[in-house]
Amino acid sequence: MHHRVSARAGIVGLGLLILAAMCAALLTGCGAAEETAPSLIPAGEHDPAVWGARYPAVYQTWLATASERPAGKSAYKRGFDGGVMFDKLSEYPFMPLLFNGWGFGIDYNEPRGHYYMVIDQAEADPSRVKSGGACLTCKSPYAEDLHAADSDRLFASAYADAVAMLPAEAREQGASCIDCHDTATLELDTRRWTADAALSEIGLDPAALSTQQQRLMVCGQCHCTYSVMKDGTEVLDVDFPWEGSTWGEIRVENVIENLETQEHRLEWTQNVTGMKLGFIRHPDVEFFTAGSPHYNARMACNDCHMPDVTVNHETVPDHNLMSPLKQDMKACQRCHYDTADELRAKVIAIQDANLASLIDAGYRTATVAKLIELANESLETGSAAVKPRYDEAAGHYRQAFYRVVFMGAENSVGFHNPAEGQRILADASAEAAAAEAILRDLLAEAGVEVLAEVPLELSAYTEDRGVKKLDFNPAQHIPDPSGSAQKKWPESLEALLR
Ligand code: HEC
Ligand code: HEC
Ligand code: HEC
Ligand code: HEC
Repeated sequence: MHHRVSARAGIVGLGLLILAAMCAALLTGCGAAEETAPSLIPAGEHDPAVWGARYPAVYQTWLATASERPAGKSAYKRGFDGGVMFDKLSEYPFMPLLFNGWGFGIDYNEPRGHYYMVIDQAEADPSRVKSGGACLTCKSPYAEDLHAADSDRLFASAYADAVAMLPAEAREQGASCIDCHDTATLELDTRRWTADAALSEIGLDPAALSTQQQRLMVCGQCHCTYSVMKDGTEVLDVDFPWEGSTWGEIRVENVIENLETQEHRLEWTQNVTGMKLGFIRHPDVEFFTAGSPHYNARMACNDCHMPDVTVNHETVPDHNLMSPLKQDMKACQRCHYDTADELRAKVIAIQDANLASLIDAGYRTATVAKLIELANESLETGSAAVKPRYDEAAGHYRQAFYRVVFMGAENSVGFHNPAEGQRILADASAEAAAAEAILRDLLAEAGVEVLAEVPLELSAYTEDRGVKKLDFNPAQHIPDPSGSAQKKWPESLEALLR
């Protein structure tokens, strides 16, 4: 049955591809005639209202990114549903333990509409914007201009000073038309130095991308992982850890390799282990393009996140980007014959399986962090008898840690690439198990007693939640849907928090 559905989707997909090719041919025809036509929009125009005057229907949908999202439609992606903000640290209590030591450990929310991207940053806990001007990189359309004018000044600025460099009327403005479109042709285009540099690093010419690559990169310029490159506290650049990869193969292994071999990517010190570590942010384009079925079918983000919508009798791609579940699976039904309920159930089944693995890997990794803490307290970790095995365990731990961060940060709870997600999380659990075995041996040899179930003392981490943001909210905690983690971990959150 699964086969039939897939085959049908494949045929419809193929039909669409042919159609798309025909349209593209037609468009090129028109484009040629229009070559001498003046710019559609004044060159370099940043103000969406000016674009909006020419494209009022799209502009309406773009403005709607400020709107509240319907509650109860998405199972796990609940940012701003019904006006309530959800935060990852409450949903996944192992995260406050693992991220304790810097901003992500006290303030790490689910995403909400594009309208809020600069606003949410300004409201974040101050610890989250310590990198100053660099933080505007993938938030404001003016970041490119500030960077081009004086990158040193941008990176040396405190966050508030960088915001003050933006035109007054644009200090709360998130991703705008000019972030994704060329003013002269309306074609998709990106203008961030970060995306250009990353594409060049993997051997692509940013000015000569395929249609699919360009459609993916208008989103992927921000929905990607990056490092705030630092020398001490000095910010050097914002850079994607993509070098050594190729398009369609920007795998978690390459990302980790770059973090682990380039000191400037080690941005923070983890309290529980005392280790300097890098970090992985929302790797959406990396995860999706790593061979997912939909990527292989030549699709891009907008195929699912921008269904056609009719505004004032005009049909346009919906620029109110949000979860397809909150749009009743409209985008999917262009290709899949399933009902909205069937499609929703398929998404949630994939997400449930992913979550079970994420929660398992997450708590295993947190356990290893506590064992390293114990080893640091009770062993001569630098001694000849301990160091080689301690280092080996630390190496396995770092591999597990980064994979858990990767899968906790990608935005689809596994849906964007189900098999790749399971592969990454299986590796994370295996790396954590390897580290745990070595550490238990070392501790046993030294006569240190270790309980079968290592107390995580989660409340020590969940309660320290910064000055501005949400309190830890156990009601938002996501229980393991498979129940498998509950065999290993205490059933209730109260017990976890003990
Ligand atoms: C300029 C950077 C940038 C670009 C370009 C961008 N995004 Fe986003 N996106 C963000 C940020 C930042 C957030 C989180 C905003 C917040 O929570 O305040 C976000 C949030 C989202 C959300 C969650 C919305 C919700 O209702 O919760 C979706 C879906 C999304 N983006 C999809 C896309 C797609 C698809 C594209 C390409 C067509 C894209 N984004 C391009 C930065 C960007
Ligand atoms: C986050 C990226 C992003 C932003 C911001 C954005 N767009 Fe788009 N826009 C897209 C994508 C992707 C498409 C679909 C292109 C395709 O089908 O390949 C699109 C399509 C369009 C189209 C339809 C072109 C056609 O094929 O008919 C118009 C018009 C448009 N955008 C105008 C705007 C305007 C006006 C704004 C600002 C108010 C804006 N866009 C902001 C990504 C963006
Ligand atoms: C085949 C369809 C499909 C494609 C293609 C796709 N997505 Fe998604 N995306 C989904 C689904 C389904 C979810 C899960 C939504 C949920 O659980 O509510 C999701 C979730 C998200 C979210 C979180 C939304 C929220 O409400 O918090 C973001 C952000 C996002 N996708 C961005 C992207 C980006 C960027 C790309 C391209 C690199 C992309 N998506 C490609 C289907 C797709
Ligand atoms: C442009 C066409 C298109 C759109 C839009 C689309 N799909 Fe697909 N879908 C496909 C194709 C093609 C396949 C691959 C079939 C195969 O290889 O067996 C597929 C495969 C799948 C699969 C099975 C493979 C897997 O990932 O486990 C699921 C589930 C699925 N799609 C759900 C969705 C959902 C949910 C949406 C909307 C959020 C969506 N699709 C949007 C064309 C599409």
